[in-house]
Amino acid sequence: MPHRFAIAIDGPAASGKSTLARELAKHLGLVMVNSGAMYRAITWKALQENIDPSNNDAVVKMLGRIKIHCAEVANESTITIDGINPEGELRAEAINANVSAISAIPEVRNKLVDLQRGYLDHTSIVMEGRDIGSVVFPDTPFKIYVDADEEVRAARRSHVGEVDSVSKRDAADSERTHAPLMIADGAAVLDTSHHTIESGVLAAIEILKQQGLPL
Ligand code: DC
Repeated sequence: MPHRFAIAIDGPAASGKSTLARELAKHLGLVMVNSGAMYRAITWKALQENIDPSNNDAVVKMLGRIKIHCAEVANESTITIDGINPEGELRAEAINANVSAISAIPEVRNKLVDLQRGYLDHTSIVMEGRDIGSVVFPDTPFKIYVDADEEVRAARRSHVGEVDSVSKRDAADSERTHAPLMIADGAAVLDTSHHTIESGVLAAIEILKQQGLPL
């Protein structure tokens, strides 16, 4: 067993991966890292600066001049950009609508992947996202791909009052050239459509045991 390790949780929008990652981190005493929040924070900054998210050059220039700081508070990742933590604004409709364009830019991904890997320098983590098992930590044996029926996922988003075109975002995230959403090599698929939070966590723990996590 490595001294520090990463559990990779990937899946489409509203599949239940954040909830699962958070509960697993609590259960196992690890830090939960929400990589989607990092892509959302860059999107927030671009929109703040009136930068067109489809203008790669302008986004890359912005990336060169901003200061991104990643840390954790109460065992969950946080991100600040130029000293501001935009957390309360990251689920806005404008962010949902533009985050896929920003996250398709290779320079954005390279920068954030470095920061994501940096967490492992000081702690073991449960990290959720789209490319955690395929790109960020391809060598970890602990990989779960979380899925749920499309109607269930759309209902989950509208239940929390969010305007989010889940299927459009999934198509963009799966079809992009750089680090698309995929089932990583070695990942076990967990469908949460008919799970409660508790039963989903138990199912994930069984998978992790089978993958060799000593629990
Ligand atoms: O997990 P989320 O819905 O908050 O993620 C928001 C967007 O960020 C998602 O539509 C695609 C992008 N993303 C990504 O490209 N790679 C990740 N590892 C995590 C998120």
